Amino acid sequence: MIEIVDEAPVHTGAREALLDLCFGEERFAKTSERLREGRLPVFAYAALDAEGVLVGTVRLWSVVDRNGAQTLLLGPLAVDPSRRGLKVGDRLMRHALNQAVLHGHGSVILVGDLPFYARFGFAAGRLDAVSLPGPVAYDRFLAVELAQGHLSGLNGELTAAGALDAAGSIGLSTGLSLFPQAI
Ligand SMILES: CC(C)(COP(=O)(O)OP(=O)(O)OC[C@H]1O[C@@H](n2cnc3c(N)ncnc32)[C@H](O)[C@@H]1OP(=O)(O)O)[C@@H](O)C(=O)NCCC(=O)NCCS
Repeated sequence: MIEIVDEAPVHTGAREALLDLCFGEERFAKTSERLREGRLPVFAYAALDAEGVLVGTVRLWSVVDRNGAQTLLLGPLAVDPSRRGLKVGDRLMRHALNQAVLHGHGSVILVGDLPFYARFGFAAGRLDAVSLPGPVAYDRFLAVELAQGHLSGLNGELTAAGALDAAGSIGLSTGLSLFPQAI
């Protein structure tokens, strides 16, 4: 049985190892990373197996356009290769999107494979007035609207808007601590 839970600091090591396995070191060079580094995610979920081992991860990040209009950037999404095809990615996605709706967010954007994300309502070509702080393939720059008209209100280059990661700002890995300790 796989359970979707809120990510906790105890998951950090396994999550980083899974992302290294799925994306390699190049993950830190991605344009999306420019909107995540040094920030805390708004939502972060882990998929755990029956033994409590992390087998999947997804995070969502707050970003704003040139006028301060906010949207959520989703990613990275990854599932352990040994557990793929079991709807773990599907459950992580649906949980993440449901939480975004429940918390009143108007849209979610990501850079990824349309053939996978289309099943959740994501489409290309909805962000023509929006850019990221770096190159992005047009057909991989995807968005889904959670509140009608929200995407048409976005304009200009997106910048990071999430809470600052205190651990990251003192030189530790940015992914190290969701809940920095006062020591
Ligand atoms: C993409 C990923 C998260 C899917 O996780 P998963 O738990 O295997 O997904 P699910 O079981 O919910 O769904 C599997 C379905 O997605 C499809 N799928 C998986 N990756 C896909 C991709 N890149 N493009 C299109 N379809 C894809 C599978 O073919 C399968 O299709 P089916 O339901 O018609 O048989 C996982 O393959 C993964 O971690 N990949 C490496 C990292 C990655 O690419 N992350 C996404 C960034 S774009």
